[in-house]
This record gives sequence, structure tokens and C-alpha cells, in this order.
Amino acid sequence: MRLDGKIALITGAGRGIGRTMALTLANAGADLCINDVNLDAAEETAEEVRALGRKAIAVKADVGDPGEVDAMVTRTIEQLGGIHILVNNAGIIDQGVPTTESAIEKWDEVFRVIVRGTYLCCRRAGQWMVEHRTGKIVNISSVAAFTGLAPRPAYVPAKGAVVDLTHTLAVEWAPYGINVNCIAPGFCLTPMSIEAFKRAGADLDKVGKNVPMGRLAVPQDLADATLFLVSDLSDYITGVTLPVDGGWLVYRTLPRG
Ligand SMILES: NC(=O)c1ccc[n+]([C@@H]2O[C@H](COP(=O)([O-])OP(=O)(O)OC[C@H]3O[C@@H](n4cnc5c(N)ncnc54)[C@H](O)[C@@H]3O)[C@@H](O)[C@H]2O)c1
Repeated sequence: MRLDGKIALITGAGRGIGRTMALTLANAGADLCINDVNLDAAEETAEEVRALGRKAIAVKADVGDPGEVDAMVTRTIEQLGGIHILVNNAGIIDQGVPTTESAIEKWDEVFRVIVRGTYLCCRRAGQWMVEHRTGKIVNISSVAAFTGLAPRPAYVPAKGAVVDLTHTLAVEWAPYGINVNCIAPGFCLTPMSIEAFKRAGADLDKVGKNVPMGRLAVPQDLADATLFLVSDLSDYITGVTLPVDGGWLVYRTLPRG
């Protein structure tokens, strides 16, 4: 699967899944805009992309801020030459405390980053894609969107909204040759999940053994699925949410023993 001549923007690509996605798309030939709120982390990923022989710019922007998103996409178009691929990967998780004790500010922040951020990036990149009648968008949801994972009163419905946003944009933009799809990762070993599991006192080994495939996801599992969905091989696929979860969603029980 080659992406030569394509320009991709990945949000939250300073670490974790987004970083591996950036390196995978670069290995396939794409030039990259690496976004993160953490500029140092974004610069590090961009440097790794350049070491692979591809062009990369690192852009600090909060995906929940319309002005910063507009400026980031404009810069991508001006400096790299367009935006054929958008991966909405940036995300944060809520506190993991009982809903009765949860902070409304945190709820707003989770929705701001995950839902508003995905909408804003799609909206701005979509302007270029509609005009040029081409584009591949991959939104990152979660298996949480299809479960009652608790206590996550912000994260779970926010990830559900990402699935729904994918549906409506897929229909609206299909006539323009734009594919809008979604990936629902299962539990994946990244700084975000390791911190969340630690706070919940969960045993990572047990969680991994409870997945039908016997292990947690690694970022490369998600990056490979993303590569497929942004490549020509998925040209007739739009509006779908692909679980990449080792079979967890069709099994869905708690660890035992
Ligand atoms: N790790 C998992 O188990 C798992 C499971 C399901 C879904 N996901 C989703 O995958 C995506 C990546 O998760 P991860 O585990 O790599 O997380 P991570 O925390 O390791 O990385 C997320 C990155 O997003 C950046 N970010 C946060 N807020 C931002 C903002 N407002 N604007 C721009 N960048 C911002 C962070 O600085 C960080 O570099 C998230 O959307 C997450 O919800 C992860």
C-alpha cells in the first residue's frame, strides 16, 4: 500500500498511537503534518519522519480551538501542498471517578477535544477536499463507544459521537470522492492507557489475556488499519467503523481469576 504524493495531517501525533501512525504513513510515502498540543513531542515525531526521507512539519494546535485548527490546516496546505488525508487521533480520557463525583469541567473538556476537535478538523480539511474532490478521513473512536465501560460518562458518549459524525460526513461527502471512516481501537499499550489502567488498579496482563487474541493491541495494529483506510485499497469503503480489538467486542466479558 503506497501513499506517494499524498499529504497527511495526524492530530495528537506527538506520542502513542498517532506517532506510530505518522511513521507508518511516512514509510508508505506520505508527507506529514504532525499535530500535537505538545510541540516538543510533535517535533520529535516530525524529526523521525524526516529521517525516513519524507517532508514533515510539526504544528502546535489545540484541536478544540477553531482558530488554531484553521491556521494549522492552512499551513499544511501552504507548506506541504494540500491535505489528502486527515486522521483525527487526538484524544483525552475522563477521570475514572464515579459519575456522581465527576467534574462538569472535565466532561466539557473531553467533549471539546474528542467531538468538537474531530468536527473542526473535518470541517477545515473538508473545505480543501471538497474543492479538490478527493480525500480520506479516518476518525479514531474506541471500543468504548459500543459498551457501557464505566465510569466514563464523558469518554464513552464522546467516542459514540465520533462514530455518528463519521456516518453523516461519509454520506455528505461521498459525491466528492471523499471517504470518511472510523477505527475503534481496543485496549492498546500507550501512555494514555497505561496511566488509566494504573489509576484503576487494573492488571494489564489479565486484561490482555481476556482478549480473544490473547494480548492487548500495540500502536502498530492501529497504524496498519489506518494505512488500509487511507490507501486506494479502501476506495469503495465509507461510513464504517472498524474495530481493531483482537475480538474483544464480540466477546466482551471481564477478566476472571
Ligand atoms: N490507548 C488505548 O487503549 C485506546 C483505546 C481506544 C481508543 N484510543 C484512542 O486513540 C487515540 C490515541 O490514544 P493514545 O492512547 O495514543 O493517547 P496518548 O495520550 O498516548 O496520545 C494522545 C496525544 O494527543 C495529544 N492531545 C491531547 N489533547 C490534544 C488537543 N486538544 N489537541 C491536539 N493534541 C492533543 C496529546 O498531547 C498526546 O500526544 C485517542 O483518541 C484515544 O481515545 C486509545
